[in-house]
Amino acid sequence: MKQVKLPSGIDVPVLGQGTWAMGERGGRKTEVTALKLGLDLGMNLIDTAEMYASGGAEEVVGEAIAGRRDEVYLVSKVLPSNASRRGIVTACERSLKRLKTDRMELYLLHWQGGVPLAETVEGFEALVRDGKIRRWGVSNFDAGDMEELVSLKGGDAVQTNQVYYNLNHRGIEFDLAPWCLKHRVPIMAYSPLDQGRLLRAPALQQIAQAHGVTAAQVALAWLMQRDGVFVIPKAGSEAHVRENFGALKVQLSKDDLATLDRAFPPPRKKTPLETT
Ligand SMILES: NC(=O)c1ccc[n+]([C@@H]2O[C@H](COP(=O)([O-])OP(=O)(O)OC[C@H]3O[C@@H](n4cnc5c(N)ncnc54)[C@H](OP(=O)(O)O)[C@@H]3O)[C@@H](O)[C@H]2O)c1
Repeated sequence: MKQVKLPSGIDVPVLGQGTWAMGERGGRKTEVTALKLGLDLGMNLIDTAEMYASGGAEEVVGEAIAGRRDEVYLVSKVLPSNASRRGIVTACERSLKRLKTDRMELYLLHWQGGVPLAETVEGFEALVRDGKIRRWGVSNFDAGDMEELVSLKGGDAVQTNQVYYNLNHRGIEFDLAPWCLKHRVPIMAYSPLDQGRLLRAPALQQIAQAHGVTAAQVALAWLMQRDGVFVIPKAGSEAHVRENFGALKVQLSKDDLATLDRAFPPPRKKTPLETT
C-alpha cells in the first residue's frame, strides 16, 4: 500500500480506518469484524477518540486489535477539556485501558479549546517520555493555529493535522493544505466520504461508471492521489471495508480530475475551517 511519511520519518498507510459512531448501539460484533478485516488487508492505521461513544469506540478498537497489537498504528484523540498538563495524562491512561494496550502510536488534540496550547504540548511531551504515546498531533487546526503551534517550544514535533476534507469540502486547499505541504505535516482527511453525502453526486457516479468502480472508491482515490494526504474512512461492515480497500486500485486521469474540479470547484478565497 502507498505510504505517507510523517515528520518523524515513520511511514503510515495512505488508507486507514475511522471509528466514529462505533460502540454506540448494538452491532459491536460486526464493527470488530470489519476492523479486523481492514487489518487483514493492511489498513492498519486505526483512528479513534475518547469522545466517540464516550469511550465505547476505543473499547471496540481494543477488541479488534487484541492479539495483533504490533500490526497496528493506533491513533486516538484527547478532548480539549482534558488537555491540561495533568488532565491529558489521566485521559490518555483511561484511553489506553479501554484500548487494552500500554501505548498508542499517535495522540491528537481533538480541537483547540480553552487550555493554553503550550500546556497541552508539555503534556504530550511528558506522555512521550513515559512511553505512553510515541508521537502527537492535532485535529481541526486552521493555518493560523498551526503557525501558533510551531512557534511554541516543542510545537514543531507535530506529526499530522486531522481535518474535514473531501470533494464537498475543499476549503483547506486555499491556505492550510499549502501550509502543511510546505512544513511537511501530512493531512489526515476525516469524513472522506462526507459521511455518505458525496456518494450520490452525478460527477462522481459518472467517473465511477467509466472506471467500473463505485462513487465511494472515486471519492477516496481522489484524496489518496493528493500529496501529503491520508484518509480514514469509517466502514461498519465487511462489504464497505472491501469496497474502500478497492479504492487503492483506482487511478484517476487528468480528465477525471478536471471533471471533478468543475463539479466541486477548489476554493478561490480563504474560508473558515469547516468541521463536521
Ligand atoms: N477529528 C474530528 O473532528 C473528526 C470528525 C469526524 C470524523 N473523524 C474521524 O474520521 C473518520 C471518518 O469520518 P466519518 O466517519 O465522519 O465519515 P466517512 O468516513 O466519510 O463516512 C462514514 C459513513 O459512510 C459509510 N460508508 C463507508 N464506506 C462506504 C462505502 N464504501 N459505500 C457507501 N457507504 C460507505 C459508513 O457506513 P457504514 O458504517 O454502514 O459502513 C458511514 O455511514 C471517523 O470515523 C473518525 O475516526 C474525525
